[in-house]
Amino acid sequence: MTPVALDGGLLRPLDAPDCAPLAQALAAIDPWARLGYGAPALERYLRRDDPALARWVIERNGTIAGLLARRSPWLRGPYIELFAVLPGFQGNGLGGAAMNWAARHAAEIAPNLWACVSDFNAPARAFYARHGFAEIVGLDGLVQPGIGEILLRRRLQQ
Ligand SMILES: CC(C)(COP(=O)(O)OP(=O)(O)OC[C@H]1O[C@@H](n2cnc3c(N)ncnc32)[C@H](O)[C@@H]1OP(=O)(O)O)[C@@H](O)C(=O)NCCC(=O)NCCS
Repeated sequence: MTPVALDGGLLRPLDAPDCAPLAQALAAIDPWARLGYGAPALERYLRRDDPALARWVIERNGTIAGLLARRSPWLRGPYIELFAVLPGFQGNGLGGAAMNWAARHAAEIAPNLWACVSDFNAPARAFYARHGFAEIVGLDGLVQPGIGEILLRRRLQQ
């Protein structure tokens, strides 16, 4: 994995020293806070050996601004398993640029790009809709009782 220049930032492979601060930052914000993922569980997720999971740090001006974790192969296309732009960096087009890159990469290899979003996460649902994802099916209580996760599919031109 080599770094990828984004409009307004950079995608680079996750390094070991990134894991603890990123896990803490993610655990402090929704959806992970409300879903009850603590920093230790997120740190284990970031560190664990998983050759099908590509983990990219989103950087802005040399500072960690977010994370994109992409599982591939998945279901006739990659699955965006974890995607976050941290609060101080949101609304500058970074998330959109990272998503556009993920979709371009996916279109080279498959006809679909998949993601999942919590039902209460209205801003992210709107973000995914603007980026061409359709809400396919609700997965009630997948992570927490009373909260649904929604499987999202973006069909790609090949
Ligand atoms: C959802 C999320 C990834 C979006 O990332 P982001 O970097 O804020 O997204 P963008 O800045 O590309 O787009 C969001 C909005 O910011 C504004 N925006 C986009 N580019 C902009 C720019 N260059 N300057 C100012 N504002 C801009 C727009 O209002 C944009 O909406 P649009 O898509 O209709 O244009 C981010 O908010 C996030 O990580 N949230 C918390 C975690 C989460 O919910 N993750 C996803 C589900 S698990």
